[in-house]
Amino acid sequence: MSINKQNFKRFDKQVNELLEKMTLKEKIGQLNQSSKAKNPEQQKKYEDMCRNGEMGSMILAATSTAGNTDEYKVYTEYYNEFQKIAVNESRLGIPLIFGRDVIHGHRTVFPIPLASACAFNPELVEKCYRAVAKEATAEGIHWTFSPMVDLTRDPRWGRIIEGPGEDPYVGARFAEAAVKGFQGSDEDDLANRDSLVACAKHYLGYGFSEGGRDYNTTDISGYTLQNCVLPAFRAAVNAGCATVMSSFNDINGVPVAASPYYINELLHGELGFEGFVVSDWGSIRQMIREGVARDLKECAELGIKSGVDMDMDLSCYADNLESLVNEGKLDVKYIDEAVRNVLRIKFACGLFDDPFREFVEIDKKPHIELAREIAGESMLLLKNSNNLLPLNKDEKIILAGPFSQERHSLKGSWSGDGEVSIITTMEEAITEVVDANGGSLVTVKNDIIYNKASLEFFKNDGVIVLALGEGSLVSGEANSIAEIEISENQVQLAKEAHASGKKVVGVIIGGRPLALQPIEPYLDAILYAWHCGTETAHAACDIIFGDVNPSGKSSVTFVKSTGHIPLYYNELLPAKKINSYYGTENVIRTTPGFSGYLDIPAVPMYPFGFGLSYTTFEISAPKVNTPSITVEKLKEGECIEVSVTVKNTGTRKGKETVQLYIHDIIASYIRPQKELKGFKKIELEAGEEKEITLPLGYDELGFFDERGNYLVEQGDIEIFVGDDCMTKNKTKITLL
Ligand code: GLC
Repeated sequence: MSINKQNFKRFDKQVNELLEKMTLKEKIGQLNQSSKAKNPEQQKKYEDMCRNGEMGSMILAATSTAGNTDEYKVYTEYYNEFQKIAVNESRLGIPLIFGRDVIHGHRTVFPIPLASACAFNPELVEKCYRAVAKEATAEGIHWTFSPMVDLTRDPRWGRIIEGPGEDPYVGARFAEAAVKGFQGSDEDDLANRDSLVACAKHYLGYGFSEGGRDYNTTDISGYTLQNCVLPAFRAAVNAGCATVMSSFNDINGVPVAASPYYINELLHGELGFEGFVVSDWGSIRQMIREGVARDLKECAELGIKSGVDMDMDLSCYADNLESLVNEGKLDVKYIDEAVRNVLRIKFACGLFDDPFREFVEIDKKPHIELAREIAGESMLLLKNSNNLLPLNKDEKIILAGPFSQERHSLKGSWSGDGEVSIITTMEEAITEVVDANGGSLVTVKNDIIYNKASLEFFKNDGVIVLALGEGSLVSGEANSIAEIEISENQVQLAKEAHASGKKVVGVIIGGRPLALQPIEPYLDAILYAWHCGTETAHAACDIIFGDVNPSGKSSVTFVKSTGHIPLYYNELLPAKKINSYYGTENVIRTTPGFSGYLDIPAVPMYPFGFGLSYTTFEISAPKVNTPSITVEKLKEGECIEVSVTVKNTGTRKGKETVQLYIHDIIASYIRPQKELKGFKKIELEAGEEKEITLPLGYDELGFFDERGNYLVEQGDIEIFVGDDCMTKNKTKITLL
């Protein structure tokens, strides 16, 4: 387990000294977070609350689905006015902490997190999120409600785009990288002005919303919770994440915000979290709707006793905690603990010494370059028949498709502050290339692409590039869809392009991993460009015209059909032979007990870890430094070293992500057929080969039971090393 960098209790001396001076009202004040005032009356109310020490935080957003709106301004001066009241006019001068959804970018927008996870490059993610922190803090933001680290297996769920995908190991590495990027890499950094307090969310299990319907109930076994859902939060906490956001959902009928188990026992107890927990927007008062609380007072009592420290959008705690204490229904110790948690982080991020911010102009050019770099590493080359790509830069291009002149969608959901004016369209990016290299571009304007007129354009000489996908308003919060097949009109367009006899490149600009089976036969090459932020189009052209060799690997399974959801690579071994993830295309009935869909075999369209390159790589059979090791030695810190030689067998430099999977053959619980336990991305010149070694230690070779007991058991474990989860390149070790 990575070292736990939670060290916020070092501020407890100052915290407890301050706590002793506070009245009950002032304590409750620290647990209230208001949104932006919506009218003069509310403005006055909030100012009075700040003056009376009854406000602890403000969220810089006017609506609870800030991700779907473009706000653009942060109002630094507006919030400083509140800070001046809180610091200069309230009795104890406790500063406010300002939060905002700076999810995957601020002015410069980086790829949606699902895309960044496909870069399999945590170091680069950390650099990008450092840049995000610099831009957000330059406008006075102290705290972001990010990273979202909800594992999910359902691409119908619009919020799949906000998280790192279906794998706990990738999720953990992404969580660490984002937290270190936002907060700075050393524990004292949190007091630096360019450190952005991070918030791991949504704790817990939100990604299992039933049917992919956002805000729905979840049913998650303790086994899945411990082994799949928790690892990213554990990694975020170990990386020093200062805050956590509790989720809307219940788990197995118990709202997370109503259960002392999930926050007090699990998060603070088992994971060692020392920061504070903020509720999701109004998610405490929702317990009335869920039928576990009669009124707001009961909601408040459930929330504070469960460990939800701060009430986002304040209606519950502000109005009810004082009377609960005065009526003897609530021991003030719960309030004291919540206030301690909040004050720890306010001390940790230096707000008492440095509460005010001014708007600072910073040079964003390096950030835009970084955005282009990670976008290029996040995009997935899914198909490249006859090595159609890369195209020559003097090529004749015929561009069509609904996203050929699109700007806004490229930045993806949850990018409300992203500057749209600096986003380049596909048409503009291709023009830049072909104009400078003697090529040509004909664009089929959107208003005519869905009638026969486009056929005229497809008669031109050259290669057809189709900019396809889905807009950013059909993913993100409260934006789930029932069918994830790419739209029929786009399939029709691809058919027409294909019928012209020309080569067709599909650039898919989307949030969720769409089901591409209907369109795949008509595209000679497919580049999944995601919603990669400000530089989506430039990065796509860098790949299309060969300046960048694609290296993305999918952090999520692409299904053939919506009907296959949920389909994920680390499925447990079933009781009988199921034609599923590791099955075959042919729908054959072989023996009794065989089962599978009779219509579309549930094999993935593109499996977890998959992504093509313009070159080819060979990975040797894995070797281990020892064929066996005792569990005791593992516990003492020894590990298995797994080595392979990777060779670039192609004609150009490229990056390969070598993936290390295990399969625990015999265990006290059924284990997944493949579990990712390590990866390394390396760059090799054509013909170059390099040996790489990946460790497997105590933390990688065990699993949790449903009660959270970590088990490393004796027996054989298969070790696979390959370029995606389908690899059969394996060896075996024995734990003694
Ligand atoms: C929203 C989202 C959460 C976000 C918060 C503040 O409802 O669920 O991710 O951080 O409210 O906007």
